[in-house]
Amino acid sequence: MSGTNGGGSITVTLDGTNKSTRLPLIPGSIGPQVADIRKLYDSVGVFTYDPGYGNTASCESKITYIDGDAGILLHRGYPIEQLAEHSNFLEVAYLLLNGDLPTPKQKAEFEMGVLRHNMVHEQLRSFYNGFRRDAHPMAVICGVVGALSAFYHDSLDINNADHRRIAAFRLIAKVPTIAAWAYKYSIGQPFMYPRNNLGYAENFLYMMGAVPPEEYKLNPVLARAMDRILILHADHEQNASTSTVRLAGSTGANPFACIAAGIASLWGPAHGGANEAVLKMLGEIGHVSNIKSFIEKVKDKNSNVRLMGFGHRVYKNYDPRAKIMAQTCHEVLEDLGIKDDPLLDLAMELEKIALDDEYFVSRKLYPNVDFYSGIILKAMGFPTSMFTVLFAVARTVGWISQWKEQVEDPSQRIGRPRQIYTGAVQRNFVPLAQRG
Ligand code: CMC
Repeated sequence: MSGTNGGGSITVTLDGTNKSTRLPLIPGSIGPQVADIRKLYDSVGVFTYDPGYGNTASCESKITYIDGDAGILLHRGYPIEQLAEHSNFLEVAYLLLNGDLPTPKQKAEFEMGVLRHNMVHEQLRSFYNGFRRDAHPMAVICGVVGALSAFYHDSLDINNADHRRIAAFRLIAKVPTIAAWAYKYSIGQPFMYPRNNLGYAENFLYMMGAVPPEEYKLNPVLARAMDRILILHADHEQNASTSTVRLAGSTGANPFACIAAGIASLWGPAHGGANEAVLKMLGEIGHVSNIKSFIEKVKDKNSNVRLMGFGHRVYKNYDPRAKIMAQTCHEVLEDLGIKDDPLLDLAMELEKIALDDEYFVSRKLYPNVDFYSGIILKAMGFPTSMFTVLFAVARTVGWISQWKEQVEDPSQRIGRPRQIYTGAVQRNFVPLAQRG
């Protein structure tokens, strides 16, 4: 197959045949044009092959734009740096869901809407008792969030705009409660109910850290850092978990089930599990003197060892979230009076060496958001197993915004990728007695 640019379309010719077709080019508001291959098979009888979807747009979206070469991340057009500096998580949630920043009245109503939904059905508490105490909290929240669809039948009709709105409120409001309870369950402490005199990030810190007999003292620096971490993880266009949510959503599945699917997809170490993996890796390296031999292992293709927190499918320059996260990391450590943290020293040295190393430079592997988030969360006292859970709390906003956009898109169809079949060609069944 050969291709030539035809201005507004690409002409594709199947070599050795007289079959050819013009593929229209679809422009986005920014970013490269996209060749529309929907008629390719009908015209020339071939499919495209793109494992990992590195060259395939699966949908149109107005929510998030990434320019990986320039290190740009925009939500509804607003640079992530400006949102992290001037906004807060619930305002960003409104923006992602609704398309524009809220007016003061819309902001107040939205915040009230989220607050009103932050408790979970009391019967849902008993789900926790079914889990072993040492269950990974991602396993717990995956199950409990999926179970929400068994409790809130009045928001399951995906074709009803009111149901979609209430489901979005419920998910954004309840996931932090469910997440904090997964942690409390794991350490055997009583579940703390949310408090409506606290902000979203504050409430999460409260439900994680408070215990009934004591007054809980909120640290404003940590609350601000938590809010920023949530903003930085809120959405990231068509990543693996968001694509999972959209694929599940394309079947008409209810939003609670779709978000549970997203949580499952986020869990893997190549995606949301990376922040947990960074801490494990730093622990395994143990000391600055071991970095050199660790880097050698990373570069050895047979070792299957990766430098966790480095590299990104889209960012081939730097991850703009990592810059903000690095700054937040220093603020948190300073506030907590952590001057010589051995893990941080190790991380900084690792970063310096990797950024100078030809292997990483030539492959454009830079620190990503997870390289620093793990260090901050550890300093804030979060157990490693909660790191990915926190990512899920934040990303719920992106998932539900993308799900809503998909359901409201009239061109939406069930997602159904094709394949290259490489198995046996047709053959006849051989009775057992005649085999072997
Ligand atoms: N350490 C060592 N080598 C790496 C790494 C890494 N972290 N990432 C990529 N490479 C190498 C890879 O071996 C390959 O080398 P070669 O061309 O010689 O075969 C080259 O770089 C390209 O890698 P790739 O696997 O084709 O890249 P990808 O776009 O498929 O993978 C990634 C992206 C994020 C899965 C990968 O960089 C990775 O595994 N990073 C570590 C895990 C991590 O930090 N994930 C968090 C991502 S950011 C949060 C999120 O959005 O979920």
